[in-house]
Amino acid sequence: MSPLISRRGQVQPFRVMQMLDLVHRRARDGKHTIMLCAGQPTTGAPEPVLGAVEESLHASALGYTEVIGDRDLRETIAAWHSETYGVSTSADNVIITTGSSGGFVASFLAVLDHGDNVALSCPGYPAYRNILESLGARVVNLVCDESTRFQPTAAMLEALPAEDRPRAVIVTSPGNPSGTIIDPEELERIARWCEENDAVLISDEDYHGMSFGRPLATARQFSDRAIVVGTLSKYFSMTGWRVGWLIVPDELVTPIENLQASLALCAPAVSQVGGRAAFSTEARAELDAHVERYRAARAVLLEELPKAGFPTMADPDGGLYLWLNVAHVTDDSEAWCHELVEEIGVAFAPGVDFDPIDGHHWVRLTLCAPEEETREACRRLAEYVRR
Ligand SMILES: Cc1ncc(COP(=O)(O)O)c(C=O)c1O
Repeated sequence: MSPLISRRGQVQPFRVMQMLDLVHRRARDGKHTIMLCAGQPTTGAPEPVLGAVEESLHASALGYTEVIGDRDLRETIAAWHSETYGVSTSADNVIITTGSSGGFVASFLAVLDHGDNVALSCPGYPAYRNILESLGARVVNLVCDESTRFQPTAAMLEALPAEDRPRAVIVTSPGNPSGTIIDPEELERIARWCEENDAVLISDEDYHGMSFGRPLATARQFSDRAIVVGTLSKYFSMTGWRVGWLIVPDELVTPIENLQASLALCAPAVSQVGGRAAFSTEARAELDAHVERYRAARAVLLEELPKAGFPTMADPDGGLYLWLNVAHVTDDSEAWCHELVEEIGVAFAPGVDFDPIDGHHWVRLTLCAPEEETREACRRLAEYVRR
């Protein structure tokens, strides 16, 4: 290893992004790929956002906003959060960040010291693990399988040995890669366990707004000591605009503000202007129609994958993903995913990104592709496996 690189600089690659690069390279060579690998809506920002931004380009200098974000956007998010979940969320507790990714870095820095334990589900979103390891925190895997629909439980936390007792617990519902939702009663048990055990609950609610029927609770319904993380990237279909938010307990506002002032100064001003319009009734109607498209893609996958020889172990309740076991066809999901791209022009995300223990037997599919492309991907997969 080069002496230029620190130990903390040696994080795992984000293989989904590498897969995306491969798809882009193929596109430059004129080869089309059906993309079921990235958790990125194929739709753009809703119309009202575009209108608001166009206007602001001429009307405002778009300089730095307040460090914790434009007050109007924070008020909008607080009102939306209060109304959606029946809680009382104040704009004073909302901090706008550069995507939720920026919010994770700031909140980890604010609550964790070097060597602190952080419990999270395995499989889970890989960036948590990568950021935590680079910050010197210790990841405690809550190994989840189909028995709990790939979500952690309070019982798992309770069963941890003393040396693994966490300083923070991260939950993600709807999950990535599982797409499953934690039942409100279980989220409440986890929130209570965290309060009783002096652990900070960090609830990644990035995929809220995207449920196919199950109720979605916010951690703030059960604990005002929890940190809630949200984003414009998923339901709001504004991935590249890089706006997310944190809803934090009073005592964390100033530390996170101070950290953000040095880490980012503020989130992108123009995206914050657009963000305000994303919560309008008109925008929400557009966005709800996208959720119907994800529901349709989900139905195709649940119908076609078992026919192709891949039974699904936990049907997605929401979000953008389906977690699929491929142990009967490969012991190396990464190589298999590359093979599928080359052989049938279909891109899945290798499970090793999400699960360092058993991910070589799993892949993640997204619900973002149009229904017909999703069907075609299943057809090609079935034919390939038959061959
Ligand atoms: C569970 C989860 N959290 C956080 C993020 C980061 O999203 P962003 O930084 O675009 O808000 C993602 C992105 O895919 C995700 O899946």
